[in-house]
Amino acid sequence: MIEAIKEKIKLTLEEYYKEKHSQEISIVVEEPKNRDLGDISIPMFSVVKTLRRPMPEIISEAIPVIKSASNAILTITNVGAFINLTIDKKLLAKEVLSRVVEEKNSYGTSTIGKGANITLDYSAPNIAKSFSIGHLRSTMIGNSIRLILNKCGYQTYSINYLGDWGTQFGKMIVAYKKWGNYDQIRKDPINELTSLYVRFHEEALKDEKLEDEAREAFRKMELADPEYLELWRWIREESLKESAQIYDLLGITFDSYNGEAFYNDKMDPIVDELIAKNLLKEDQGAQIVDLGEEMPPALIKRSDGGSLYITRDLAAVFYRKKEYHFDNILYVVGNEQKLHFNQLKAVITKMGYDFADSIEHINFGLYLTDGKKMSTRKGGVVKLYDVLMKAIQLAYDLVSTKNPDLKNKEDIAKAVGIAAIVFGDLKNHRSLDIEFNLEQAVKFEGQTGPYLQYTGVRIASILKNKTFDVNQCNIEVFEKPHYFELIKQISLFKATIERAAIERAPSVVAKYLLGLAQSFNKFYSIEKINVEDEQVRNSNFALAFATRTVINEGLRLLGIDYVDEM
Ligand code: ARG
Repeated sequence: MIEAIKEKIKLTLEEYYKEKHSQEISIVVEEPKNRDLGDISIPMFSVVKTLRRPMPEIISEAIPVIKSASNAILTITNVGAFINLTIDKKLLAKEVLSRVVEEKNSYGTSTIGKGANITLDYSAPNIAKSFSIGHLRSTMIGNSIRLILNKCGYQTYSINYLGDWGTQFGKMIVAYKKWGNYDQIRKDPINELTSLYVRFHEEALKDEKLEDEAREAFRKMELADPEYLELWRWIREESLKESAQIYDLLGITFDSYNGEAFYNDKMDPIVDELIAKNLLKEDQGAQIVDLGEEMPPALIKRSDGGSLYITRDLAAVFYRKKEYHFDNILYVVGNEQKLHFNQLKAVITKMGYDFADSIEHINFGLYLTDGKKMSTRKGGVVKLYDVLMKAIQLAYDLVSTKNPDLKNKEDIAKAVGIAAIVFGDLKNHRSLDIEFNLEQAVKFEGQTGPYLQYTGVRIASILKNKTFDVNQCNIEVFEKPHYFELIKQISLFKATIERAAIERAPSVVAKYLLGLAQSFNKFYSIEKINVEDEQVRNSNFALAFATRTVINEGLRLLGIDYVDEM
């Protein structure tokens, strides 16, 4: 909890020296190990050094500035080069709550990302295939990381790098020409295209020539054969409808939808550069970049001249560097593509560029059912849109049983169902495989999104039509452990968001919210909130309000809506 006040002192002093003395001095604010010296300690060496004035002068100038930073300072003393403070915990608690009441949703906003520019590549479904669970994970994780980064002041640019190019399109076109039906695809694009794709793979097991035909068809696309391009455009459009449904449901948009196809005419210059830099080698008719002992070579061109996934990613990363001037670029992609991104970085470094370290593979694990990978291809097709709809249906049933008179049940069920799926995912560190259980995730108790929403709803109903004045609190109560613990957690919101941003890990926020909700529910089980005593009531209401503000804002950072009733 002392974090907030430490930071405020640091900022106040730094600002003061900048304005008064036109000096950028970095101030260190410590918590001394020996608490006899105080709760907070500020060494003034750096100021003396920069301003070149005697220590006593520096100290007496600094003391009133420090005092102005917080009302919670109890005593200020000076020993040698150190200014030592003691803090009144009750006043500090009140300061934290006042701050939330004042800042509302902006509470927790950080500036650690100011001036930095991050490009994010996430979702990226493959057009001719069904939207997979991996793509859902990428979408949810990427979206949340983006919201967290924005909250920390980073400028972000989000790209849905659609998998709209590559041999799978050759497969689709071959399958369509052999077995497809235009009207059926128009009527039910996703199912028809999926079953064509499945059929291609079944038949290809029996007939090897099919794979060659598919490669040939893709070659034609790359050479801009009008008939093939037209077919491609149409299939792309039809199958994008499925992704659009999912994005609509989750309320997600992107700054750019430039997919792999966009780079079809941007690969040649890269290949030329590789040749000019003597990096391209022939290997059994194909063109590769040798990456030494540590990794297999990067395959840049097939023997038939066709480009590959990595060829397009190379073109894309150079284009993005030029267009978006990113300081970092984040690729939210499954664990299984680790090698791909290592190769990508290695090729860039071999080309003599120095930005490979700014490329981050934000990896994630699989969804498992009974220890096995949930699959979207072949037999066991899990239709994601259906899974989402099922979550919403389950939420609807739960909400209706709990609260039959509820108005707009549909909207609430939608928010709750999505919360179940999204939170069920994001509470796990992204790199882990997840055993996912929908019935469990929708529950209002346990570590679920609906549990957090429900905690918010309880608070909303306590505060409904009530007013309070945070300046008229009884601060004595803040010393009680169940108050103090809750306030301490609220004070850690910003530091939590910053950690999530730095680690690119929404789970940091998710776990924090669970802890906060638990503390609140514990508090609520001990304490009556709407009490007679006006000052105690103000304390309780302010605390409940702050808790709810943080829960709602935290949920928003995960891509989840709060609800007022359920
Ligand atoms: N469409 C790819 C897949 O589903 C993911 C693309 C990730 N982004 C990238 N720039 N490679 O495997």
